[in-house]
Amino acid sequence: MTASIIDGKAVAATLRARIAERVKALPYTPGLRVVRVGEDPASGVYVRNKDRAAQQAGLDSATIQLPEETSEAALLELVHQLNADPAVDGILVQLPLPKQIRAERVLEAIDPAKDVDGFHAVNAGRLATGQAGLVPCTPKGVMHLLAAAGTAIAGARAVVLGRSNIVGKPMAALLLAADATVTVVHSRTRDLASECRRAEILVAAVGRPEMVKGDWIAEGATVIDVGINRLANGGLVGDVDFAAASQRAAAITPVPGGVGPMTIACLLENTVEAAIARRG
Ligand code: GUN
Repeated sequence: MTASIIDGKAVAATLRARIAERVKALPYTPGLRVVRVGEDPASGVYVRNKDRAAQQAGLDSATIQLPEETSEAALLELVHQLNADPAVDGILVQLPLPKQIRAERVLEAIDPAKDVDGFHAVNAGRLATGQAGLVPCTPKGVMHLLAAAGTAIAGARAVVLGRSNIVGKPMAALLLAADATVTVVHSRTRDLASECRRAEILVAAVGRPEMVKGDWIAEGATVIDVGINRLANGGLVGDVDFAAASQRAAAITPVPGGVGPMTIACLLENTVEAAIARRG
């Protein structure tokens, strides 16, 4: 079997166009504020891409850049100001933060109604208990990709490789809510390969270049590769050995051009959803 390629760029473009239409129909402009502290170079690229996509979708978007030496108290004060600002619907504090700032303190200070990253414990709890809330962008994007690929989720055996709060755990919760039979596997799992081989849907989110080998993939599986790993030679690869996996999977996401573009599209979607929930 040669897998069909799930085109994240195309799915994201369609979603972004739909979001732009929704924004046009609103009697107000949803506001997004992205906060960046310091000069982490990868963050700079992400933040610029988020800003550009938000503006293209018609959002009122701005990046607030703070110096590397910003104190935790100063960042908390900014978060409180944004919480209180009626024009701001979405707040995203870009990670990683400098070492003098405790990220969990800052994330928990964001008003859950404006938490467009979906990282606040209140939103994580809502997701875990099946209540409406803001859902982390990357796993939300994966659900859009599975829908676009026509993958049946209800009753399917889904394996999530990775247990981070940002991807693995919310991914498992979303698949479970969609009636998959979900297994979460991780670095301490015994015999990862045979666990993965049972998956009809495999979501890899471990951040290890090409760790998932071709013979870990069941014939006909749908493979979603969340990994974005920069190699020493400058190349970009996912968590899955794409060439080998493509010989067995029915459908697979490429890296780049798979999950990556969906994350930003879902940030815009969350901002619009947050605005509608707050303002109607
Ligand atoms: N850094 C890398 N990815 C993300 C993300 O999705 N949200 C935030 N806030 N920071 C990040």
